Amino acid sequence: MIELMKEKDLEQVTEIENGSFSKPWSRMYFLNEIANNDLSELYVDVIDGEVVAYADLWYMFENCDLTKIAVKEKYRHKGYGYKMLKHLTAVAKRKGCEFMHLEVNVNNKEAYDLYDRFGFEIVRTRKRYYENGDDAYDMIKGLIDGKEARKVLAIESSCDETACAIMDEDLNVLSSVVTSQIDVHARFGGVIPEVASRMHVEQISTIVDSAIKEAGISVDDVDAIAYTIGPGLIGSLHVGAIAAKSLAFFYEKPLIGVHHLKGHIFINELIKPLQYPMMALVVSGGHTELVYIENDQSFRIIGTTLDDAVGEAYDKVARVMHEAYPGGPVIDRLAKDGQAHYQLPTPKVEGYDFSFSGLKNAVLQLVKKEEAAGNEIDKNDLAYAFQEVALNSLIRKTKLALKEYPCKTLVLAGGVAANSRLRELASNEFRDIDLILPPLKYCTDNALMIACAALHELKAGRFVSFDASSQPSMSIED
Ligand code: KG4
Ligand code: ZN
Repeated sequence: MIELMKEKDLEQVTEIENGSFSKPWSRMYFLNEIANNDLSELYVDVIDGEVVAYADLWYMFENCDLTKIAVKEKYRHKGYGYKMLKHLTAVAKRKGCEFMHLEVNVNNKEAYDLYDRFGFEIVRTRKRYYENGDDAYDMIKGLIDGKEARKVLAIESSCDETACAIMDEDLNVLSSVVTSQIDVHARFGGVIPEVASRMHVEQISTIVDSAIKEAGISVDDVDAIAYTIGPGLIGSLHVGAIAAKSLAFFYEKPLIGVHHLKGHIFINELIKPLQYPMMALVVSGGHTELVYIENDQSFRIIGTTLDDAVGEAYDKVARVMHEAYPGGPVIDRLAKDGQAHYQLPTPKVEGYDFSFSGLKNAVLQLVKKEEAAGNEIDKNDLAYAFQEVALNSLIRKTKLALKEYPCKTLVLAGGVAANSRLRELASNEFRDIDLILPPLKYCTDNALMIACAALHELKAGRFVSFDASSQPSMSIED
């Protein structure tokens, strides 16, 4: 995520700086820039605590000067320079700058190509600008080209979160508001569909209104209204659909119907540029799928669960252990202090498919047996045993699938992607591929994910009509 550089980033920044420039800026210099220079702003792109890129932007009246941009060596040629430029131009535009200026060594073809692709133009050549006698190009990009980044307003209501977000096509988040019904459903030990729909009806207007206010724009300023068209609980989906259709109708905007799981997948774009072909391991309360994605419009399910979804298994196992809903975070926490003690069966399924009901039933039987015998269950150990079997089956199948379908990127998506042990296993196992683990706040349902997926539909011109019906069991291949 790109944010303002802070003192904590400086150790990593200076290391990249020393490896990238013949006359590197010192740590002191960076520190001084951060603390004392009101005219400049330093930005860093940090992924999982690692600084991958940074840049320095100076403001001079209606102009700004890009005095530095660097990408850590192993992350070069992966779109991070472009991502940073997108961010900086959006920031500069918002501050009222009309032009962005930079100098580049004429022999630095890689940097020149990046700026050229981004729309910078050469305005003059500075002879022998560098100490070694190299020339420099002065390059400029106009920031007011009349073409504003398009914006979408997105609504999510497929299960037990009511959410609305506004985002532009440069991936700037203008607002994101989520309210969860978990506390209410926890009382019943699971999501009660009728209660969920009723609560969406109560929440939706306030949530949409807050998202619009937070973004500081009017619905007139957005270019499309998006909503989750499926899969999900039908009553819940209807509430989002009606809200989106009302806005689209009143403000005369095109309507985009988003597949919920595409949202879980595309939100990873806020972390890193996605490279295709890509594999997604989608693990949520309703789905467990391995999806092969050749490009942003081509999705193929190559493995799926034959019975329960993995999140559902977590929730049911927690319930058997008399723990609260949702069970995923509880089991995750309990397993941390557990040990290998209980034996549970490994699911045996051919190919890339999954099965979790045998495992779930084995836990159920074990608990019944122990309770009947008057023995106390060690919850930590049971959570550990269940989790190791369930997660290792996810990892094993993903590994197998990547052998037959080599990919550049692997993304984890959905609520169970928040699981700490799954993240650990995946980080250890998938070292030779660009692995993206969404930050925890992006794992569970939100509307930013729907906006991310909607931008792909907007670019492809894929809209839905006002008579589109919600599809509770829609496939990602549709
Ligand atoms: O994606 P999501 O928010 O909703 C659906 O689209 O289904 O996923 C919810 C699921 C629940 O089953 C919940 O127990 C599970 O994600 N979950 C977790 C964790 N956090 C949430 N499962 C395992 N470990 C977690 N830390
Ligand atoms: Zn979800």
